[in-house]
Order: sequence, then C-alpha cells, then structure tokens
Amino acid sequence: MPTPGDSEPSQDGPTPALFSWEFATDPYPAYAWLREHAPVHRTRLPSGVEAWLVTRYADARQTLADNRLSKNPTHHAEDAQGKSRTGIPGERNAGLMTHLLNIDPPDHTRLRRLVSKAFTPRRVAEFAPRVQELTDQLIDDFAGRGSADLIHEFAFPLPIYAICDLLGVPSEDQDDFRDWAGMMIRHGGAPRGGVARSVKKIRGYLAELIHRKRADLGDDLISDLIRASDHGEHLTETEVVAMCFVLLFAGFETTINLIGNGTHTLLREPGQRAVLQDALAAGDTALLESAVEELLRYDGPVELATWRFATQPLTIGGQDIAAGDPVLVVLAAADRDPQRFADPDTLDLTRRDNQHLGYGHGLHYCLGAPLARLEGQTALRTLLTRVPDLRLAVDPAELRWRGGLIMRGLRTLPVEFTPVG
Ligand code: HEM
Repeated sequence: MPTPGDSEPSQDGPTPALFSWEFATDPYPAYAWLREHAPVHRTRLPSGVEAWLVTRYADARQTLADNRLSKNPTHHAEDAQGKSRTGIPGERNAGLMTHLLNIDPPDHTRLRRLVSKAFTPRRVAEFAPRVQELTDQLIDDFAGRGSADLIHEFAFPLPIYAICDLLGVPSEDQDDFRDWAGMMIRHGGAPRGGVARSVKKIRGYLAELIHRKRADLGDDLISDLIRASDHGEHLTETEVVAMCFVLLFAGFETTINLIGNGTHTLLREPGQRAVLQDALAAGDTALLESAVEELLRYDGPVELATWRFATQPLTIGGQDIAAGDPVLVVLAAADRDPQRFADPDTLDLTRRDNQHLGYGHGLHYCLGAPLARLEGQTALRTLLTRVPDLRLAVDPAELRWRGGLIMRGLRTLPVEFTPVG
C-alpha cells in the first residue's frame, strides 16, 4: 500500500512526505490521506523510533482516554531494552521525569490534584489585567513603526513573561528565562546540546528560587504549589521543580503558536477576520471565544499529543497494536475529520459544534487551557483592535514553519500596517 511520501500520486494528488519541509508548511493533505487510507499508520519518525499515528477523530478521542495506554516511557518496548529514543524532554533528566505528562494514575491523580489546588481558574481570572498590560506593552513597542515580526515581538515574549509573572519569577530574571526558552524552541525541544544546557539552567534556577520562596512564601503560583496539600500530603521540592518545568514547557511554545498560527490564519481569511473585527467593535466577546476555539481546531499549535505506550496488546480502529508500541494521536488530523466536523477545511469562527481535541482529552486534558484561552483571546482582541489594518508583509509562500514532532508554528510572521500612536 502506498504511504504518504511515496512518489505515487494518491487520489487527491501526491502527498508530501511525513515530517518533511513541505509537510511542516501544510500537513493537512497528508493527514487527509492518512485518515482515508491508513487511519492507524505505523511510521518511522525522524528520530528512528517506530510509532503508530492515529488520525481519525473517533479513534483519537478514544485512544486519549484509554487507560491501557501509559504515559510512562518505561513502557516503551525499546526503553525496556535500554535504548529509548523518544526524546521526551526531561527523559535524561531524572529529576524532571516525574511530571504530569510522563506519569499514570495513581501518581498522576495525586500530582494533578495538588497542582489543581494552586493553578486554579480563579487565579488565572485574577491574572487577566496583567495579561492585558503585558499585551499592551508589547504592542506599544512596535505600533508606531508600521511593521513588526509578530512571532519575535509579540507571540514569543507574551507567554514567557506571563508564565514567569504567574510563577513569581522576579522581573530582573525574566530575560534569562526568555533566552533559555528561546534556545529550547530553536532546537525543537530535542534533548541535546544547547537544549540540554538550557534545561539544566532552568532546572538549577527553579530549584534555587523554590528554595528561597519556601523560606518566604508570597502570593504567586510557586508559593501556592509549595503550600498545596492534600490529606496532609505536600509536593516534594523535586516535584515542585518538575511541575514548574512542565508548566513552562507545556504552556510556552503552545501559546506562541496559538497566537502565531491564529493571527496568520486570520490574515489569510479576510472575510472571517472582518466578521471578528466587526463583532469586537460591537463589544461582542462571545464571538471572540468561539473564534479562538475554531483557530485551535483549524490550525492548532499541537500536531500530536505527547507519547503513549501500549501496556498490553490492543486494537485501535481495527488495527492490532503490540504491547510496548508507541502510539501518537494526531490531534491536528482528528480536528479536520469530515466524519466529525462539517466542512472541516473551512474556517468558521462562529462554529458552535466544536469539540476539538486541541487541548487533548481525558486525564491529561490541558491543565493550562484557561490561561491559554485568556492569553489567546487577549492577544487577538488587542492586536486586531489596536492595529486594525494589519497585513502580511511577505508572500505567504515565503513563510517558514517550524515543525517539531509535537508542535507546529511559524518561525517569523512579518506584518505591516499604518503606524498607530
Ligand atoms: C497538557 C495543549 C497551553 C499546561 C496538554 C495537552 C494538550 C495541550 C494537547 C495533552 C497532551 C497529551 O494528552 O498528551 C495545549 C495548547 C495550549 C496549551 C494547544 C495553548 C494554546 C498550556 C498552558 C499551560 C499548559 C498555558 C500552563 C501554563 C499543560 C499541562 C499539561 C498539558 C501541565 C499536562 C496535563 C496532564 O498531563 O495532566 N496541553 N496546552 N498548557 N498542558 Fe497544555
């Protein structure tokens, strides 16, 4: 059977090779091919690891909630032989291993309950004025110029400063964080060279900051994580470090790409953008909410949910999977499945029936979704209101995409507009 990447054209024309440069630019034709012809497809990833890709919505949703699949990399058949190459951040950093995305119940239940006591929707709601202030400051810096790179000047700094503020990282240290985080992104999170050094620096810094805060608790998320207790149980110092680390790396590149991919989509869809701008001018925030959900469905930041490993032989969508096999749920493919969404390749900011999988599903459903929504909505509303005639400054074909295994986003987003005061 031909697979994406074979030179043989499929019914809809040739499909680009998975994980190639063309694929990062537009993976959706390949995903349509997979959903149609090989909905549970075994492939060799760029790292050399073989994994199953699940692309249909119904299979994806079921797989995300299937407790026969473990998040713990020690269930990987290759890992059992001591040679895992999954490249999970922290894999070789034992202290950072015990974070939510790498563990199963009952450890996951305990840690998630504790962190949920600190990282509450209320804390996020109270943070709204600060997100607005950060957004305005970033726009102030380029608004008078008439041009900007919205990734470097807007989408990238906003989430990093926001999470630093929320955690309680002192403002004088936040630029260091920005550099370390930039290094992790530039290298796609792969645990080698500069990334390993950045991970080490972040871990060392967080351990020291947490130690200091323990002696002088404040009104920030780190202090609340230290305080959080469940039946008298607290997070250990190593667990607080791992938790802060996962909040940083799970919440950072994702939100950059929500703002970047979302703005890019709106610039390419002037009709839909006009609908949103009209609604914003009329003070209709309900449309802003559905718009951000639709942008997540249509071109979301997370291509694939993080690793899962079969703990026993099982069947997904009629395909037998062996114990120890890695399974990757392709959220971006599931969210364009015509069996689930009407006109899935059409952007419809008013879409109501939109239970997309952009934030995952089941036990590991995104813990930061309220913060991501707050940042995404604030960023897009403020940008489109303050800089209403924003337009792409380059031909769309010149845009370059960063396609890691998990995330997909733009490297740069050059725009121009009438300068505003
Ligand atoms: C989990 C997406 C922003 C923290 C997840 C998962 C997805 C996701 C798909 C599930 C992964 C899986 O099942 O393998 C997103 C998207 C975001 C975003 C699209 C932005 C648009 C954030 C933010 C934070 C955050 C801002 C925190 C500051 C987390 C954490 C988990 C998670 C801690 C692990 C939860 C668990 O395992 O119990 N996210 N995320 N995310 N996310 Fe997000």
